[in-house]
Amino acid sequence: MGATGIDVPPSGDGLKVLVTGGLGFIGSHLARRLAGHGHDVTLVDNLMPEHGGNLFNVARIDGRVQINISDMRDASAMRHLVKGRDVIFNLAGQSSHIDSIRNPYADADINSRAQITLLESCRRYNPGVKVLYASTRQIYGKPDYLPVDEKHPLRPVDINGINKMAGEMYHTLYHQIYGMDTCSLRLTNTYGPHMRVKDSRQNFLGIWIKRILDGQPIEIFGSGTQVRDFSYVDDVVDAFLACAGSDRAAGEVFNVGSGEAVSLVDVARLLIEINRGGEYRLIPFPPERKVIDIGDYYTDYGKIRDMIGWQPGTALRDGLERTLGFYRTYGKHYWE
Ligand SMILES: NC(=O)c1ccc[n+]([C@@H]2O[C@H](COP(=O)([O-])OP(=O)(O)OC[C@H]3O[C@@H](n4cnc5c(N)ncnc54)[C@H](O)[C@@H]3O)[C@@H](O)[C@H]2O)c1
Repeated sequence: MGATGIDVPPSGDGLKVLVTGGLGFIGSHLARRLAGHGHDVTLVDNLMPEHGGNLFNVARIDGRVQINISDMRDASAMRHLVKGRDVIFNLAGQSSHIDSIRNPYADADINSRAQITLLESCRRYNPGVKVLYASTRQIYGKPDYLPVDEKHPLRPVDINGINKMAGEMYHTLYHQIYGMDTCSLRLTNTYGPHMRVKDSRQNFLGIWIKRILDGQPIEIFGSGTQVRDFSYVDDVVDAFLACAGSDRAAGEVFNVGSGEAVSLVDVARLLIEINRGGEYRLIPFPPERKVIDIGDYYTDYGKIRDMIGWQPGTALRDGLERTLGFYRTYGKHYWE
C-alpha cells in the first residue's frame, strides 16, 4: 500500500477516481488528498443548499480536480460519470435526521434510490470499479452495549438511518450477487475544517463552533452527560484510502470512529478552553429530537484496525484546535 493507500501505477498516470458528494465536507478532503498524490479526480455534486457542499471547500485545489455539477439521481449523468473509473468514493448523501423526518421522500430519494442508480450504472457500464460507501453509525440506533461493533443489531431510530442502512445494504448486496468490489464505512460523528457550521443539519459540533466564535453560548440538549466519539476528518480520509488500497475490504462493512468516549459537556468545556472563552448552557431536548435520541454511543473500530491496519491518529483536542483555527480565518465562507 502506498502513502495514499492507493498507489499511482508505474506508468505515472494516476488512477481515475470519482468522488460523489465531492464538494461536501468529507468529500472535499478526500479530493485534496487524492489530487495531491497525482490521481485523476472528478467530483460530482448537486450543491443542494441544505447540504454541506461549498465551492470554497475546493478553492485550494481548483484546477487540479474536475467538477461536475450533477445529481446522483440522474441515471444518464451517472452512466457517463462512472465509465472508466478505477475507484468511486460514494459520499453523496443527505445527513440531517430532522430533515429526513420532515421530508422522508427526499431522504429516500438521495440516501436509498440514488444509491441504486449509482450501483446500477456501475454494474452496467463499469462492473470492475471499486466502490467505497460512506455509511453511518446512525444505522445502529440506540445501542444495546458499548462500544458498538459491527455485530450490533441494526435498529435505526429515524428515516435517515433507515435509508442510509438501505444504501449500505445495496452496496453489500451488489457484492454478493454481482461480485462487485464494494465496501462500506460506518462513520461516527466526523468534524474538521469544511464542515457545515451554519446550522446543526450535518452535526451538532458545527453549530457549536459557529456559536462559540460568534460569542454565543453553546446549547446542549438534555443533561449533557450523553457520550459520543468523534473522528477528525483526516482520519476518516485515511480510512477510506486504506480500504481503497486493500484487497481485504471487498464486501465488508467497517466501523470508523475514535473509540474515545467523551460527554457532550466535556466537549463543550474543551472547546471553551481552546477558544479561551465562551460558555455553554443545558436546554431541554426539543420534542422532535428527544424521540430520536440514541443516548450514549461510541465505536469499536477493532475490525478495520485488525483487517486493514487503520486506526485514528488525531486527539480530540488537536482536531478541535485545527477546526476552530480554520473557522477563525475562513468562517465567512461558511456562515451564511
Ligand atoms: N459528517 C458526519 O459526521 C458523517 C457521519 C456519518 C456518515 N456521514 C456520511 O458521509 C457522507 C458525506 O458526509 P458529509 O458530512 O461530507 O456531508 P456533506 O453534506 O458535506 O456532503 C455531502 C455532499 O453530497 C452532495 N449531494 C447530496 N445529494 C446529492 C445528489 N443527489 N447528487 C449529487 N450530490 C449530492 C451534497 O451537495 C454535499 O456536498 C454522507 O453520505 C453522510 O451520510 C457523515
